Amino acid sequence: MSNEVRAQRGPQEEYPSVDLRMDVPHSARVYDYLIGGKTNFEADRVAAHASVQAWPSLPISMRTTREFMQRAVRHLAEEHGVRQFLDVGTGIPTSPNVHEIAQRIAPDARVAYVDNDPIVLTHARALMSSTAEGRTCYVDADFRDPESIIRNPRLREVLDLSQPVALSLIAIVHFVLDHDDPQGIVRRFMDALAPGSFLALTVFTGDTDPVGVGGVGREYNARGIPLQIRDQAETTAFFDGYELLDPGVTLVHHWRPDADAAPIRDQDIAMYAGVAIKR
Ligand SMILES: C[S@@+](CC[C@H](N)C(=O)[O-])C[C@H]1O[C@@H](n2cnc3c(N)ncnc32)[C@H](O)[C@@H]1O
Repeated sequence: MSNEVRAQRGPQEEYPSVDLRMDVPHSARVYDYLIGGKTNFEADRVAAHASVQAWPSLPISMRTTREFMQRAVRHLAEEHGVRQFLDVGTGIPTSPNVHEIAQRIAPDARVAYVDNDPIVLTHARALMSSTAEGRTCYVDADFRDPESIIRNPRLREVLDLSQPVALSLIAIVHFVLDHDDPQGIVRRFMDALAPGSFLALTVFTGDTDPVGVGGVGREYNARGIPLQIRDQAETTAFFDGYELLDPGVTLVHHWRPDADAAPIRDQDIAMYAGVAIKR
């Protein structure tokens, strides 16, 4: 496979060539490998193995986080009637993606996906498999620049920002260091969304196993992927000013688990989750 890949946005439009940098690990591809995907390269697998050596529970924690995303989207669509989703830090498409979950409940649901990784861009077409009644789009942009995302014309074609939107930030904010003020960035997104909008967010934590999770942080940082570990109070700060839905901020597997969910030990999980509404 060539480093230079042309990605298609839709039947008529093409994105410019992108450099996948297969020689350095990328967070989206390390994550893909650890949840069982095939869209990753040697450098990603080396980083993944070193991280698992530091903390063997990492794949369990990642898969459980992905399951939280599925339950949160289902809950918002089913119980709160949410029909619009803005998913930032989408990752390499892994079925079911946000629109597949939401459109199973509401075929007219609309989803705007955002990521800044070139490999996600090359797979953007897989995110466009919308129902005829619904709509999806992909925006290649940086989470740290919320205004440019909110203003993006493709996003505005898909999302009506005068109506509630669920902002979904799953396993992304640990890639944003405190000096970039991730809580402030989330607030700038939420300020642009209508009352009745939701925030669904997860935060990487070392509260359950500081030594193991600290080792993961070191492995990522050593390979050029900045990663910040946060505690429960720092997680809760992301939701300041919004009303948390029950059960509040919890480890991902404790957030409204399915009745038939297999038991998971807290020490195998390094991710807090919460879902809140903007009144
Ligand atoms: C661990 S993956 C999570 C994927 C997906 N949300 C999930 O839960 O399965 C994190 C994603 O965030 C993206 N990401 C990291 N920093 C970003 C930034 N500043 N702007 C946009 N996307 C970013 C990465 O490219 C990657 O695809």
